[in-house]
Amino acid sequence: METTKDTYRGDFPFFTNNPDLVYLDSAATTQKPTQVLEATLTYNGAQHANIHRGAYELSIEATNKFDAVRSKVKAFIGASLEEEIIFTSGTTESINMIVSSYAGLHLEEGDEIVLSILEHHSNLVPWQQLAIARKLKLSYMYINDLGIIEPDEIEVKIHDGVKIVAITMMSNAIGVKTPIEAIIKRTHQVGGIVVVDGAQAVPHQAIDVVSMDMDFLVFSGHKMMASTGVGVLYGKKALLETMAPYRYGGDMIEYVEEQVTTFAKLPSRLEAGTPNIEGVISLGAAIDYINHIGMDTIHNHEMMLTQYALLKLSELDYVNIIGTTDIQFKGPVISFNIRDVHSHDTAFILDNAHIAIRSGHHCAQPLMHYMKVPSTARISFYIYNNTEDVDQLITHLKEVRRWLGYGS
Ligand SMILES: Cc1ncc(COP(=O)(O)O)c(C=O)c1O
Repeated sequence: METTKDTYRGDFPFFTNNPDLVYLDSAATTQKPTQVLEATLTYNGAQHANIHRGAYELSIEATNKFDAVRSKVKAFIGASLEEEIIFTSGTTESINMIVSSYAGLHLEEGDEIVLSILEHHSNLVPWQQLAIARKLKLSYMYINDLGIIEPDEIEVKIHDGVKIVAITMMSNAIGVKTPIEAIIKRTHQVGGIVVVDGAQAVPHQAIDVVSMDMDFLVFSGHKMMASTGVGVLYGKKALLETMAPYRYGGDMIEYVEEQVTTFAKLPSRLEAGTPNIEGVISLGAAIDYINHIGMDTIHNHEMMLTQYALLKLSELDYVNIIGTTDIQFKGPVISFNIRDVHSHDTAFILDNAHIAIRSGHHCAQPLMHYMKVPSTARISFYIYNNTEDVDQLITHLKEVRRWLGYGS
């Protein structure tokens, strides 16, 4: 198999500052290229002003910079309208907004919400708590032994009367993609709406919310090379317009009197208070960077690395890969366990060799419980990884076996 050269790693000061580190935890958070770091430095160091309220030039420029990112995000995910893009602090906040300001307003006792067992706690606990508080029914689509949701499961679980289906596009825990098109189609057939958790998909593949007919899509900036504390809630305008304001305060009002307030139009109505301006600017720079490389190039590079890693891991008979190894159902995330070794031990020993991986339940305890796997070791890739990273991992996984006294 072809190995990779460091075409893009030079853009990331992180790797210059950590020359010995093998970073395999981009599903948790990604490193940032100079282009993104410079965008926030320029704003903070030379152009800092609040937005949407100053009459002076600096504030107007900051406002223009901020608003331009909305248009970039719109194009990036194929939305029709800028006001369909709401800036939030991340996926978690976006989901909580939908749960409390859309579902909380429209669902009644006995209504049914369907999730998948693959969900990150962020796309599970808010729905579960709403279901408890409002006496809603909460159901799950389950997976087969390979981690895949089968067509029958979609057909049976998404039945007439289901109001909301909230589903990840790719499991952060085991890297398996969900059949998102089939789920959206079926949900619309039964008259429901779909909330798509794109935290692990939007950074890695082209998305078109209009042609995919997504009702809501949420994602985080820090998983696509932007800063932490910024994210997006996309919603069809007709749905966003029915949402109650999630927070009240400055910037989201039209007129305020002593006893009553009228609210601003979208998107401001759902963006109270001073936003994370530098975060939004970093998101714009990250989108520029992704567009500059090309999403296809990113996707192909990651899939090549995933395939390479799967091949190398499969040569170690004491490694058990969790979920499918069929690349067409996978994103750039691989979960595995070394026989007789706890994933935290694997991660600690790899850390000694300057290899950063994730271990544990990956904020998906119901999934782990369902799969009867208490924890896994997880590696994940982005544009700055290369086959050498995988080779180093493999060398040191052999060390893990030796350290723990199992031989090689
Ligand atoms: C699939 C998925 N959903 C939601 C989240 C939560 O994202 P954030 O912590 O950025 O809000 C994550 C984070 O790992 C994730 O992987």
